[in-house]
Amino acid sequence: MTEIPTLAVTGATGQLGRIVVRLLRERHPDIKVIALVRDVAKAGDLAALGAELRLFDYDQPESLQGALEGVDKLLLISGNAVGERERQHRAVIDAAKAANVGLIAYTSVLRASETSLPIAAEHKATELILRGVGVPHVLLRHGWYLENYLFRVQAAAKDGKLVHCAGDGRISAAARADYAEAAVAILTSPESQAGKIYELAGSDSFTFADMAAETTRQSGRSVVAVDLPKPEFEAAIVAIGLPAFVAALIAKSDYGAREGGLFDDSRTLERVIGREPTPLHQMITSALSGI
Ligand SMILES: NC(=O)c1ccc[n+]([C@@H]2O[C@H](COP(=O)([O-])OP(=O)(O)OC[C@H]3O[C@@H](n4cnc5c(N)ncnc54)[C@H](OP(=O)(O)O)[C@@H]3O)[C@@H](O)[C@H]2O)c1
Repeated sequence: MTEIPTLAVTGATGQLGRIVVRLLRERHPDIKVIALVRDVAKAGDLAALGAELRLFDYDQPESLQGALEGVDKLLLISGNAVGERERQHRAVIDAAKAANVGLIAYTSVLRASETSLPIAAEHKATELILRGVGVPHVLLRHGWYLENYLFRVQAAAKDGKLVHCAGDGRISAAARADYAEAAVAILTSPESQAGKIYELAGSDSFTFADMAAETTRQSGRSVVAVDLPKPEFEAAIVAIGLPAFVAALIAKSDYGAREGGLFDDSRTLERVIGREPTPLHQMITSALSGI
């Protein structure tokens, strides 16, 4: 591996990937950054930052190895096509192995090995593939993104009800930008990262009742958390404008939270980024400024 590595980022035109590429260019201008994208037309801003653009579509496995030539470290940002991701990630990992990529950092899910969250299945499968293929890798296991709650907080500020089905489950969410910063810190660390597992999550956990109380405090209108049975919850989410399959996914996540699946008190993210992750009240301020 050269002294200054070449880093490549998949999903670079996605919300997380864009932040990672920007931070890499801002904080490590000497490092060559390759933005792996499906659509170059969406990546003009990344090229303007000095990233090299390469076409990269998980569904075109034959093209992946060539796009990874010369890459020392690869951030594999998990895809968003739920149900297709095990196959897609396998294609990327096989290509990275064939291209002699020195390290894959994979964005997995919090406590992937033991969590009961249904969304974790493809992450568990990807972690197994990484081990099976035998490519050096580091696992960036992400807790929930605070941004997942923006839409519900905005709806609650309008009608006074923050619907959920998470019971008193505590949630240790952090902002997307915090997870991006952690990825940058880990990818650019001078220490060897192969074999490491980072359980990344917010430092301060909260319940939906806490979220409702903070929304009340900031909006000046009374908002109560309403814990609904799962079918009623899904119907309520559809009623505030999200598609049924998204409502089903959110319900499963809330249920996971009820069982402790979104809680973490390790403060690993805080240690990695060297500051407290974004707190709940800041996400609520952003949510309320957007309505
Ligand atoms: N823990 C959580 O709370 C949480 C929440 C949301 C998402 N996630 C996970 O974290 C990932 C990153 O989050 P995000 O907010 O950045 O998601 P996002 O904005 O949806 O970005 C996903 C990226 O994956 C790319 N992609 C999808 N299919 C692809 C394919 N076939 N080939 C190549 N690239 C493909 C997309 O490309 P285009 O830009 O061309 O569309 C996009 O850049 C998500 O994909 C999901 O796995 C976790």
